[in-house]
Amino acid sequence: MKIHDVSKNYRKVRALDKVNITFGEGVHGLLGENGAGKTTLMRIITTVIEQDSGTIEHNGVSWNDKEDVRRMIGYLPQKFSMYKQLTVRESLRHVAILKGMEKGWKLAVDNAIGSVNLEEKADSRIGELSGGMVRRLGIAQAVLGNPEIIVVDEPTAGLDPEERMRFRLLLRQLGVGKTVILSTHIVDDVEAVCDNLTILHKGKVVITGTPKEIKSMAGGKIWKASVSRDDCMKLAENKLITDQKIEDGGYDVRFVSDNTPDIKAVPAEPRLEEAYMWLIKR
Ligand SMILES: Nc1ncnc2c1ncn2[C@@H]1O[C@H](COP(=O)(O)OP(=O)(O)OP(=O)(O)O)[C@@H](O)[C@H]1O
Ligand SMILES: [Mg+2]
Repeated sequence: MKIHDVSKNYRKVRALDKVNITFGEGVHGLLGENGAGKTTLMRIITTVIEQDSGTIEHNGVSWNDKEDVRRMIGYLPQKFSMYKQLTVRESLRHVAILKGMEKGWKLAVDNAIGSVNLEEKADSRIGELSGGMVRRLGIAQAVLGNPEIIVVDEPTAGLDPEERMRFRLLLRQLGVGKTVILSTHIVDDVEAVCDNLTILHKGKVVITGTPKEIKSMAGGKIWKASVSRDDCMKLAENKLITDQKIEDGGYDVRFVSDNTPDIKAVPAEPRLEEAYMWLIKR
């Protein structure tokens, strides 16, 4: 998928500013703080809203042909909800109809339920599910019918650790031969599942690369030191501290510094989270 110079304003807010990204096969992460523009970009990709300018294209299909685009996309919105009176199976059938599936919807619904391990709840009403189960249903409706492109907006928010692990595996499987785009705040999720990563900041693309490439960009900028409590406070005044642990009454800290710091510190291998923080701060 080729996103070319896409911009979007909401009244005075410039939510996206000339965004250029190419998404190939595999899992792509969109990482950015609150308000960075992740949801806006996903809503444009899924044709829920339209960009002010710029173009999107995938395998010869232009985003001017909305019906064609919708047929090849599955979407889990950040705020997902469904009719509480419907059962899991009924709600998925409803989605299958909206997607224009005729023959084969039954099998597609069963497969979607199986992919998120909701078999036991297939005939329960949505109102009776836990929050994490509703989240899983959301994932099921996004993968229903095996779409070529899957867009999931903060899919792991609200999942328990076991579910999160299972979901990461599912995303990895989905990424084979397809384009999966996910947004998240959780840097761990990105490292676990994403082949590529785009960092958005205030509507602009900061960088695109593999997690490894992005980590290596912060090479030489991350330091670690053992300091007293007072020194830790002083350090925090003029350096970005990325980690701190209490150790023998003092602190083991990690921090960002472009130059060799004036306290006793040793260079550290950057973590993805630190590279992200450093890139955003710049
Ligand atoms: N419907 C809207 N009307 C007006 N402004 C909006 C609307 N939707 C989003 N915005 C603004 O556009 C910017 C981008 O918002 P967006 O929801 O795309 O960010 P996000 O990266 O998804 O954030 P989060 O991590 O909090 O979900 C923000 O400044 C937001 O306030
Ligand atoms: Mg969002």
